[in-house]
Amino acid sequence: MHYDVIVLGAGAAGMMAAIEAGKRGRKVLLVDHAAHAGDKIRISGGGRCNFTNINATIERGRDRFLSDNPRFALSALSRYTPDMFIALVQRYGIAFHEKTLGQLFCDGPATQINTMLLGEMRLAGVTLWLKTAIERVSKTETGFEVLFTNTSATAESLIVATGGKSIPKMGATGFGYQLATQFGLRLTETRPGLVPLTFETGALEKLTPLAGIATDAMVKHGKTAFEEALLFTHRGLSGPAILQISSYWREGDAIEVDLLPGRDAGEVLRAARKEMPKVQVQTVIGNLLPKKLAQLLGDELDMPGMFGDFSDKKLAVIEAKLKNWTLKPVGSEGYRTAEVTLGGVDTRDLDAKTMAARSVPGLYFVGEVVDVTGWLGGYNFQWAWASGWAAGQAA
Ligand code: FDA
Repeated sequence: MHYDVIVLGAGAAGMMAAIEAGKRGRKVLLVDHAAHAGDKIRISGGGRCNFTNINATIERGRDRFLSDNPRFALSALSRYTPDMFIALVQRYGIAFHEKTLGQLFCDGPATQINTMLLGEMRLAGVTLWLKTAIERVSKTETGFEVLFTNTSATAESLIVATGGKSIPKMGATGFGYQLATQFGLRLTETRPGLVPLTFETGALEKLTPLAGIATDAMVKHGKTAFEEALLFTHRGLSGPAILQISSYWREGDAIEVDLLPGRDAGEVLRAARKEMPKVQVQTVIGNLLPKKLAQLLGDELDMPGMFGDFSDKKLAVIEAKLKNWTLKPVGSEGYRTAEVTLGGVDTRDLDAKTMAARSVPGLYFVGEVVDVTGWLGGYNFQWAWASGWAAGQAA
């Protein structure tokens, strides 16, 4: 069977690309090996889909996308903006709210976004094949041939939207990287991103009693810092602040945690020395932070005696602990739980306006398979919509 465009991968980026190409009158086939389209959308945002971020714009989003070339994403992001996706969501009567930091979530289930995209696909005349395994892709004189288990299809344009390696249990395969290599495109190193961090046994033994505790913190790695919730788990550290910093962290690096963000810890401690001279350091910290965390920090400080007797020098050591608590993760939970894959198809080999491979006419890469990864908070879906949209205009 012949199509104008074949899109591989019916996730966020692939559906958007198929819709846009279909709206232009192109005959589009969208293929996925999963039983449903948009499985990750369904579970995203804790089941409420954080479908975009109002700051994922060219002006404010400049430093919120990681890539070997962070400027690459800006063209697509400027042409398909959060406002455009919000307008689509509103047209379908889907209620939503801003949770925090510009993050827009559905009020109801995330499946509303899937229903909306499937509706748009129907209107655009897109043919959808699910549970379809791709055996082989080859170049023909006029385009591409895709061989499936029982059939094959040809098209002038091929859009690869098969995502990254995160959550293999949900069908992630790394297939897009293989295709990129097959067609001579370069890859940048891939790594799990937006992922909880883990610790060696000794450090973990100290942290596990705190499992379930969340506290606001500023988590820092070099010049990068995120002020959001930090969560202690049985495996290490998680929560938005940790997920964000994990995309910047590398094996062997330490992270620093400011447990009193926005507060002058020195001033707080000096006031406490006057007001609570007869208590232990744990009690003072326990007034500022969750009790079990205060206990852990107190143990690490190992400063017996009454707080009223503490010298300025001792207070400075406590202040450093509270403002620059240094932790050394050993690793991350990996692709099993990572929300995204960092790295991917090298942007040097793609056209920023259309997502087309520079050296292979008719071949496009969109979404997570490309070396563009957003911050937590709706940035990754906005990249999927915007890059899918861009390819859909051109394919
Ligand atoms: P995506 O992974 O969505 O789709 C790829 C598709 O290709 C899949 O349907 C897969 O089955 C198919 N495929 C793969 N290999 C194939 C093969 N060999 N043959 C056929 N089909 C194949 N982002 C955000 O902005 N807001 C949020 O709230 C969340 N929440 C969230 C929660 C969780 C648990 C995860 C894991 C991730 C998020 N994300 C997120 C990230 C977001 O889900 C991600 O960035 C996008 O889904 C990427 O869209 P793509 O279309 O590029 O890939």
